[in-house]
Amino acid sequence: MVTIPFGLFVFIALAAITKALKYDAEQAAFNLNQNQTATDPLDYWGEWADHEFFPSPPNWRMPMYSLFIDRFVNGDPSNDNANGTQFEHDILSTSLRNGGDVKGLQDTLDYLQGMGIRSIYIIGSPFMNMPWGADGYSVLDLTLLDRHLGTIAAWRNLIAEMHRRKMYVVMDNTFATLGDLMGFEGYLNESTPFDPEEHNVVWKSEMRYHDFQQSDDELASCDYPRFWDDSGHRMTNLTDYFVGCRDSEFDQYGEVASFGNYQEYERQLSKFAFVQDRLREWRPSVLAKIKHFSCMTIAMLDIDGFRIDKALQVTIDAQGAWSNHIRQCAKRYNKDNFYIPGEIVSGNSFGAIYIGRGMEPGMAEDNLTKVVSSDGHNREYIRDLDNSALDGGAFHYTVYRALTRFLGMDGTFAAEGDPPVNFVETWNALLQTNDMTNAYTGEFDPRQ
Ligand SMILES: *[C@@H]1O[C@H](CO)[C@@H](O)[C@H](O)[C@H]1NC(C)=O
Ligand SMILES: *[C@@H]1O[C@H](CO)[C@@H](O)[C@H](O)[C@H]1NC(C)=O
Ligand SMILES: *[C@@H]1O[C@H](CO)[C@@H](O)[C@H](O)[C@H]1NC(C)=O
Ligand SMILES: *[C@@H]1O[C@H](CO)[C@@H](O)[C@H](O)[C@H]1NC(C)=O
Ligand SMILES: *[C@@H]1O[C@H](CO)[C@@H](O)[C@H](O)[C@H]1NC(C)=O
Repeated sequence: MVTIPFGLFVFIALAAITKALKYDAEQAAFNLNQNQTATDPLDYWGEWADHEFFPSPPNWRMPMYSLFIDRFVNGDPSNDNANGTQFEHDILSTSLRNGGDVKGLQDTLDYLQGMGIRSIYIIGSPFMNMPWGADGYSVLDLTLLDRHLGTIAAWRNLIAEMHRRKMYVVMDNTFATLGDLMGFEGYLNESTPFDPEEHNVVWKSEMRYHDFQQSDDELASCDYPRFWDDSGHRMTNLTDYFVGCRDSEFDQYGEVASFGNYQEYERQLSKFAFVQDRLREWRPSVLAKIKHFSCMTIAMLDIDGFRIDKALQVTIDAQGAWSNHIRQCAKRYNKDNFYIPGEIVSGNSFGAIYIGRGMEPGMAEDNLTKVVSSDGHNREYIRDLDNSALDGGAFHYTVYRALTRFLGMDGTFAAEGDPPVNFVETWNALLQTNDMTNAYTGEFDPRQ
């Protein structure tokens, strides 16, 4: 038996956890990357071989059903405790996994199709979470499917069967937020204040993200993204506030709660709700990897759309550039109307920055005939058609608030720029303030 000196052992262990998630036969059934020689994440690749990719629908105005796979149907009990811990599967617990999986969803398609459902939005990311991560929103790796839900083969069986029934599948995309592996120096026991100078990172355990690198080193000057405020106006007072930044693929500006009074730029640059580390998606090297992994997901699984989680916390130009890339990627897989709705947790004014080409309040068009007649190209927008960001809202809180008022509930039910209470006026105001043009065709195509 060979004894390894302790120092060397630590070195070997560190080397093992910091290297990229290269092809690993052990993970083959779950790893979307099938390139056995790739070490650079941009060389990772996989494609569904000998498969005819399913075309997009001509429009997305169809009954869509939303479900959490873990809370749906347990078709394969053998994956319930995939990590073999005491804190993952418990049918009586609201905060652990209930055992639902891809097989269970496939077994239940008759029921969903029988109700007239034409598309399913699967809530929560399919990628690996912590053993107890039932909701799927704390992703640890953007190339590795979560073992509790199903293998690549199981996902393909489900999606092929949905397509055989002419049903479409929209997957959740957490874009820039990951799991909870990082803390900030001096703030492990309390919330970290927002600081434009950023914080040093303290890792909470020995786990690391494989494909993104962290650093506390400082860069003297950085190209910051464009920011808008919640009234839908460009922020012009931040040029002296944000100058340098950390040379990190993660934002290290602190953390904010999921709800509360923060500047939109603070939400976009900080750890979410104290539990989701945030990638610096406005840094080109990071955005390139996010684009690449999302495209690989389409190539491997033949999905029909991505719903962007917490979409308004993605800096807007990164969101527009990603959507542009994804539409082109989807075209290579037979899809000329890939659907990209996003979660809009704000008032209508800030949401309108993200829909289509993006509109500030001053760009609203009062003439509804003009809005719906597709000759709106003479109008003014923030971005060009290719860089249209979101196609619509999948959880639009402006609409939620309207529905809660309709149900006679009380509370604070107006946010910046929200339309009037009457539903007809609500819809008309959304038409006037949101760009509902299809980025592929240039036609008016409301999909909210
Ligand atoms: C696989 O990785 C190698 C680098 O090891 C790269 O040269 C090649 O282009 C990659 N293949 C694909 C299909 O991306
Ligand atoms: C859970 O299992 C996966 C797949 O084997 C593994 O990669 C991951 O590290 C495990 N998670 C924990 C917290 O042990
Ligand atoms: C956090 O709080 C615990 C319990 O009070 C304490 O033992 C620990 O030293 C604190 N850690 C830090 C980094 O302050
Ligand atoms: C920028 O202006 C907004 C008001 O539009 C203000 O609330 C915010 O504190 C300012 N930020 C900085 C860093 O000056
Ligand atoms: C509204 O737009 C339509 C189509 O462009 C145009 O024919 C009509 O004259 C406009 N109405 C008003 C009141 O400007």
